[in-house]
Amino acid sequence: MYRIGVVSLFAELIDPVARHGVVGRACERGLVELRHESPRAFTTDRHRTVDDRPYGGGPGMVLSYEPMCGAIGALRTCLPKDSRALVLSARGRSFNGALARELAAAPGLLLVAGRYEGLDERIIEAEALEEVSIGDYVLSGGELAAAVVIDAVARLLPGVLGHEESGERDSHMDGLLGYPQYTRPEVVDGMAVPEVLLGGDHDRIRRWRLKHALGRTWRKRPDLLEARVLSDEERELLAEYRLEAGSA
Ligand code: ADE
Repeated sequence: MYRIGVVSLFAELIDPVARHGVVGRACERGLVELRHESPRAFTTDRHRTVDDRPYGGGPGMVLSYEPMCGAIGALRTCLPKDSRALVLSARGRSFNGALARELAAAPGLLLVAGRYEGLDERIIEAEALEEVSIGDYVLSGGELAAAVVIDAVARLLPGVLGHEESGERDSHMDGLLGYPQYTRPEVVDGMAVPEVLLGGDHDRIRRWRLKHALGRTWRKRPDLLEARVLSDEERELLAEYRLEAGSA
């Protein structure tokens, strides 16, 4: 059982990932447990205030230390020791597949979703939170980012995906964008499925898919290709793709 604890003001923005699809099924089957704690439950004033004005002035509000650390502390008692602890923030390091794999290998995961202008810096220090961003854009809060992390991590946990789904991508296609997929009908609105996919020649199909995965990556994400060492076959298939693309 992989335990995930989430601190946020809006559980309702995160809960749907735990109720539907792959993550929903993993929760139902007891492979993943998602717990939520709101800092509001750790306030002492009549208005249940979780934020305050920033020292030094400026716009917006900052989430306060005591309610946030109260919620974090309550979740930590339910999480394994040495769980990873992240705060979702636009100023964090970038989330990617490698970090998802690291998190899936950890004993558990604590996610803190910020709101407003951010958190009191002392929360991050005292709780040793790693700041993680899901992309170079600003969201209104960390909840949707936390949901993205939960989904990406849960699908890597043992038993969460069936054999068929996890074997869906050949390991040698890792680090490449996905190849084009087709389903019935064979011809639709005058567009036919590539002939090679209709035959049963598995090696031709594998080469066609690898060639198109390489081609798409070359067109859309050349940075991924630069980070990857290509095999002789891959170089040959990419050259073929580029030749065809150039003459098209
Ligand atoms: N909170 C606001 N923007 C964010 C982002 N890009 N990633 C993670 N958390 C955020």
